[in-house]
Amino acid sequence: MRKKVIIGNWKMNKNKEETEYLLNNLAKKTWEKEINVKVCPSYVNLENAQNILKNSSIEVVAQNMHYEKEGAYTGEISYKMLKSININTVIIGHSERRTLFCETDEIIKKKVNIALKNNMNIIFCFGESLEDRKKEKQIDAINKQLDVLMDDVGINKWNQIILAYEPVWAIGTGINATPDQAQQMHKYVRAQITKRYNQELSNSVPILYGGSLKPSNSKEILSKPDIDGGLIGGASLNFDDFFSIIRSVDKK
Ligand code: 13P
Repeated sequence: MRKKVIIGNWKMNKNKEETEYLLNNLAKKTWEKEINVKVCPSYVNLENAQNILKNSSIEVVAQNMHYEKEGAYTGEISYKMLKSININTVIIGHSERRTLFCETDEIIKKKVNIALKNNMNIIFCFGESLEDRKKEKQIDAINKQLDVLMDDVGINKWNQIILAYEPVWAIGTGINATPDQAQQMHKYVRAQITKRYNQELSNSVPILYGGSLKPSNSKEILSKPDIDGGLIGGASLNFDDFFSIIRSVDKK
């Protein structure tokens, strides 16, 4: 049985005080053990977040990292720095990194490789643009992005990978994929994993949905059989909304 995974990606939001407010509130709450909750604060708040959550099951995750271990890369952060403060998971391939910061599949591949090689876990994001969807090219678009993983990554590394399907047209727009559209894509991706690897692996890989998830749609979307949780932007910035999404997958 795959566990449910709920991740708040706070992007470039929340200063120190606001981050502490969210974390302190989350730390007081409980939910069934079968739900993995993770939060992704900004770099400058990572260490503080670790301290606040030290007695909690919530994992602190980085939003990005560079593909070199160190060097003259002004403004960048490496896996070595993250690991030195006990951050062991990083988001790679988010559509905002792809579009706003020009991250190509080549760059993403290098990030995936250095992360996996150094035993970091990754949340690998993929998803089609509105243009792809309008032309009904969504499968081609996501296949190309997933090839970055499936062409290179050996079967023994997949326990370090969480996939997150985030259709670009649904991110921050208020327009979520319908539960059926999301389920269809997740089922397709799972079938691809079976084809390229095997059934056992495909049954074990968590595939999350992201894109305008909110308390009003989370229960329906996250109850689909191939959807193992959510990567949440906007709604995770509000404590009540984020907690209500966690509650929506809690069977207790
Ligand atoms: P929204 O939930 O704001 O649409 O953002 C989704 C996302 O990009 C999470 O990584």
